Amino acid sequence: MDKFNIAIDGPAGAGKSTIARLVANALGFVYVDTGAMYRAVTWRILRAGLTPEQQAEVIALTERMDIRLAPGENGQQVFVDGNDVTTDIRSAEVTNNVSPLARIAEVRRILTVKQQQMAAAKGVVMDGRDIGSHVLPDAELKVFLTASARVRAERRFQEIKDERTDVTLRQLEQEIVARDRMDEQRETAPLIQASDAILLDTTAMTILEVVDRILDLCRTKV
Ligand code: C5P
Repeated sequence: MDKFNIAIDGPAGAGKSTIARLVANALGFVYVDTGAMYRAVTWRILRAGLTPEQQAEVIALTERMDIRLAPGENGQQVFVDGNDVTTDIRSAEVTNNVSPLARIAEVRRILTVKQQQMAAAKGVVMDGRDIGSHVLPDAELKVFLTASARVRAERRFQEIKDERTDVTLRQLEQEIVARDRMDEQRETAPLIQASDAILLDTTAMTILEVVDRILDLCRTKV
């Protein structure tokens, strides 16, 4: 199969990462989790004692930061300046600060350039919020994955219940809705379905059904 790029966007907890990784594996393509990049910057600025409000300092640190993604056994590994931050970037503290950070236009510009470089040779499945609309507007296939907020919260709850024993399903749903709202309402590259993206509502679908559907869509591209 000739190489092409696939953009997978959608709100928090829609299953993008799992699905994008499985699609990439099936096609022999490279998986790029752009949410992990925004999380990596968030982790780094919090470690430096900064908040997303300190924009000038945050931008300067983002410019100096070396972010690397590498395929790992259980998904993608993430390194910041050589440190493995794969687990740390999933903490509640990072999750609660990532959307305010992702509003900073200059941070988005820096990460967008990196993402475009990663996809330049084609054969990439990239997931995020603005991939089809901004980062890879020429991606050969664009999918917008969604599901009801309750179902997304339930899926997240199952994933994290061992690590975050303090959180209830209701709280998780509220966090997800608040993060979506911030991502949809920001000025630069908000969460939006690109006009040429195919909408897949996964509320009543299994992961494998979604993967199969996307692989079917890929067959129409070759
Ligand atoms: O995908 P994930 O939930 O890990 O993304 C974390 C956050 O990173 C999102 O809520 C959003 O604020 C930001 N993000 C973004 N643009 C992307 C990917 C993620 O703004 N392409």
